[in-house]
Amino acid sequence: MTNGGPIIRVQALRKVFRVGDVDVEALRGVDLSVNKGDFVAIVGPSGSGKSTLFHILGGLTAPTSGSVSIDGTDLATLSENGRTRVRGSKVGFVFQKYNLLPTLSARDNIAIALDIAGKATEPDASFQDVLRFLGIEHRLDHKPRAMSGGEQQRVAIARAIVNQPAILLADEPTGNLDTASSDAVLALLRDLNQRMGQTILMITHNPEAAAYANRTVKMRDGRIVS
Ligand SMILES: Nc1ncnc2c1ncn2[C@@H]1O[C@H](COP(=O)(O)OP(=O)(O)OP(=O)(O)O)[C@@H](O)[C@H]1O
Ligand SMILES: [Mg+2]
Repeated sequence: MTNGGPIIRVQALRKVFRVGDVDVEALRGVDLSVNKGDFVAIVGPSGSGKSTLFHILGGLTAPTSGSVSIDGTDLATLSENGRTRVRGSKVGFVFQKYNLLPTLSARDNIAIALDIAGKATEPDASFQDVLRFLGIEHRLDHKPRAMSGGEQQRVAIARAIVNQPAILLADEPTGNLDTASSDAVLALLRDLNQRMGQTILMITHNPEAAAYANRTVKMRDGRIVS
């Protein structure tokens, strides 16, 4: 339930990593609101806290302080189990390196996300349209090594959205792809956003990739600067 408010609301978010006897301040007070249906590009220099922010939004990492609410669920109040449920149901992740399981077919890589979320291991019929839309419906029996990088990333996108997450987080999704595959994946993300209303946050170093989004957020030294 969002009551028409932002689907993501981050307030005064801080994350300190203890490395040996040194504190690394990865996030130093981040405030961010994202509306349902937004496509946001997150840009900023290496080490500015972009991935840390995603890990917290995705329930992978607990914040040091501050509040994070996703689709009406306050992550700060959740136990480890609660965060695991958020990962399974509210958030889909796409990474630079696809992170598909090499021994499984594309179909089983997608099905495993359903399994983890405690659902039937066959996508429902409407998901066939998504697979067709992603252009991978004829590649489902292939293992990752038999697919191009762009195809693997499209399978990773299918896996990320099969549970109909409130938000899709993509951390440099085109970082490993050649220009043509990169353009294809970015066009798909834009279509997912425009046609299916999928809310997307995408980290990128590439201004051309950021141009596919409808809003750009810049980070520096653990803060949002614009
Ligand atoms: N698990 C961790 N343990 C210790 N320090 C960490 C950890 N994760 C991130 N950091 C530190 O937090 C800061 C922010 O890192 P983060 O990975 O969020 O940056 P980034 O903006 O994603 O950078 P890049 O563009 O290189 O991916 C860096 O100083 C990093 O070294
Ligand atoms: Mg990063």
